[in-house]
Amino acid sequence: MYIKGVGMTKFDYSAKPWWDFAYEATIEALQDAKMTMSDIDAIIFTSISSAASGEHQTHKVSFLSELFKTNVPIIELASVCGGGGVAFWNALKIQEYDNILVLAAERFADNRSEVAVDWILSAAEKGFEQVEGMLFPTQNALVWQAYCEKHGGSIDDLSLIAYKNHQHAALNPKAYFYKKPVELEKIKASPEVSSPLRLMDCSLSVNGGAAIIVSKEKTEVEVIGSGFATDHILTFERENPTHFKATRLAAEKAFKQAGLTPEDIDVAEIHDAFTSVELISYEDLGFAEEGKGGELIRSGRINLGGEMPINPSGGLKAKGHPISVTGLAQIYEITHQLRGDCGERQVPSAKIGLTHNIGGAGGSITVHIFKKN
Ligand code: COA
Repeated sequence: MYIKGVGMTKFDYSAKPWWDFAYEATIEALQDAKMTMSDIDAIIFTSISSAASGEHQTHKVSFLSELFKTNVPIIELASVCGGGGVAFWNALKIQEYDNILVLAAERFADNRSEVAVDWILSAAEKGFEQVEGMLFPTQNALVWQAYCEKHGGSIDDLSLIAYKNHQHAALNPKAYFYKKPVELEKIKASPEVSSPLRLMDCSLSVNGGAAIIVSKEKTEVEVIGSGFATDHILTFERENPTHFKATRLAAEKAFKQAGLTPEDIDVAEIHDAFTSVELISYEDLGFAEEGKGGELIRSGRINLGGEMPINPSGGLKAKGHPISVTGLAQIYEITHQLRGDCGERQVPSAKIGLTHNIGGAGGSITVHIFKKN
């Protein structure tokens, strides 16, 4: 399957309803593909936030039918922060249709922070984790503490990851932190949210939409590997709580399908919900050996200008993280990188790109590999 068109809104706090983000992203994707809605045979839609904004509009597929004046099948599915990747994975599996629109939109960050944080908490396990107040920053801080005990990680390495992603976002007009670079000292001085993670180790909750048109027609960007794996919701019941088994399984599947190894990747978008998640994912995706993720960020190889830039878009940290939209936003970035039209943040001669999207605390994970034709 191929990528025929991509669209994405600016990520910010604008208080538009989710369908405005959905519409804007879709129009851009259709224009990019030189198509109209009548060329689309099916739609897969993913979103979780409308209940948080008290909207009371659950029959979204019918709402989208009206919005786009179409009667094609519309499937709604959700997998929290992993929704975009899971929706895309599903589109690749449907053989009956020539052109499928994969769409995500969230209005989220105009809620008060405590409402948004509580809503995100609903992605965690209910009986133990939620009642113990295991907010996502706390859950990830505990995982990072355990990683440090095992491998001797350093908070300074996490600051370097935040710095890299902020440097990249400053070059991305659709990122929240566009033209607003953040200095390393400011990152290190940001307040502790859940020890040892600081504010600047957390992704930024924002609103937005993204749309990808998946097609059977050959285009410049081909999907050559796709993996999806799940894991227990209770993190402490997992075999190895300091790593994401589902990333390893999804990556293994995607690399096998593509006939490639991690050394073949030129550019990657990784799910940096927290800087610690990005570091651990270097290891789970095979870009670094277990316990050596810190060496990779210190090497400079994954900064723009390095051999294999990671998160040239600015990532969830500095482009922003509109929950279900993130997985499609990653594909938007990699498509543009492979087409070679990313301006100042272009990775020179990028031919193979990878996306990695996590749902919750690692419970549903997709990895996709793309090739420039
Ligand atoms: N990075 C940089 N700046 C951030 C930020 C982040 N991650 N989060 C918030 N800010 C900024 C806001 O833009 C705002 O700036 P302004 O005053 O210039 O407008 C300021 O900090 C205060 O924002 P607010 O939302 O009130 O912060 P908060 O202290 O209530 O909450 C967090 C901050 C990080 C604790 C909260 O946003 C959080 O829990 N984030 C994690 C979200 C999450 O778990 N996502 C799912 C991952 S799987």
